[in-house]
Amino acid sequence: MSFDRFGRNITYLRISLTDKCNLRCVYCMPEDMTFRPRHELLQDDEIGRLVRIFAHLGFNKIRLTGGEPTIRSNFIDIVREIAATPGIETVAMTTNGVLLGDLAQPLADAGMSRVNVSIDTLDPEKFHRITRWGHVDEVWDGIQKAERAGLQIKLNCVVVRGYNDGQDVVDLARLTLSHPWQVRFIEMMPFGDVADFQQAGMVTEEELRERISAELGPLTLQNDGQLDGEAQLYTLEDAPGTVGFISSISKPFCAGCNRARLTADGKLRLCLLREKEVDLLTPLRAGASDQELIQIIEDGIWHKPWGHDLAHDIIPLNRVMSEIGG
Ligand code: 5AD
Ligand code: SF4
Repeated sequence: MSFDRFGRNITYLRISLTDKCNLRCVYCMPEDMTFRPRHELLQDDEIGRLVRIFAHLGFNKIRLTGGEPTIRSNFIDIVREIAATPGIETVAMTTNGVLLGDLAQPLADAGMSRVNVSIDTLDPEKFHRITRWGHVDEVWDGIQKAERAGLQIKLNCVVVRGYNDGQDVVDLARLTLSHPWQVRFIEMMPFGDVADFQQAGMVTEEELRERISAELGPLTLQNDGQLDGEAQLYTLEDAPGTVGFISSISKPFCAGCNRARLTADGKLRLCLLREKEVDLLTPLRAGASDQELIQIIEDGIWHKPWGHDLAHDIIPLNRVMSEIGG
């Protein structure tokens, strides 16, 4: 088991497989983003080894992220190897859905059980504006194929004022009336160069709940308000699905955090919104033994920061979201 000094049991590892992406969402990266050269990224065998070590340390859930994880070469093989690692119970990914149509069934066959698909609006023009390069019909097709392949589905919507804070959120929430999905609205978080834009466009959970209930009726709080992962869940009347709010800014959930992150370039990031990282790539390539790596990881986890401090305007500047993977 891996405990931090605050007694939190860290069991959930999010692995960024690449910092690259086939979209350019306005809240995530500039259009002319530059990426890391390949040799700076963890190789397939290095990922496999680290996953075995994390599993040995009690981690049981892995989520693959990016950038966009599906554009990594050998993606299906990586998923298969992780899913077959003793101790790993759940393999999930967060994807923009662009390539999901073709990948859903092979991924399910390889052992993936859950996908979170980012879809910020159902309106094709607005979708294109927010993602710069995306076509919403491709993503929608991916979601349908994922459902057919038996993958458990959550939809993520980052709300940006002036882009998708109107009818968009109502239309997304309405999907829960006809599908057993969790549709989650995420407060936009500030990172690096994009922080000013992000802070200016942030829309709070409270405002969204009002907008949704005004059109679709009351939202009933679920689980006595206990969070499901990081989401506060509500349901619309007679809905098979749930509406979730991930309100890292207006309602931080750091106290219950059970996660660590591995960046594509092999750094263990202990908090999404803190700059502290522990380099695993360098010792790995310098020939460290499993025992040495375990020591480095355990020490890093022990010193996991308590939580973010956005309330005091402490914003992580060393990376943008696509390099950490959300
Ligand atoms: N704040 C909150 N969520 C973000 N995402 C990307 N950038 C941000 C941000 N600044 C989301 C994506 C995706 C997940 C990886 O993180 O939309 O759902
Ligand atoms: Fe790509 Fe996701 Fe960033 Fe959009 S939010 S540019 S889909 S990594």
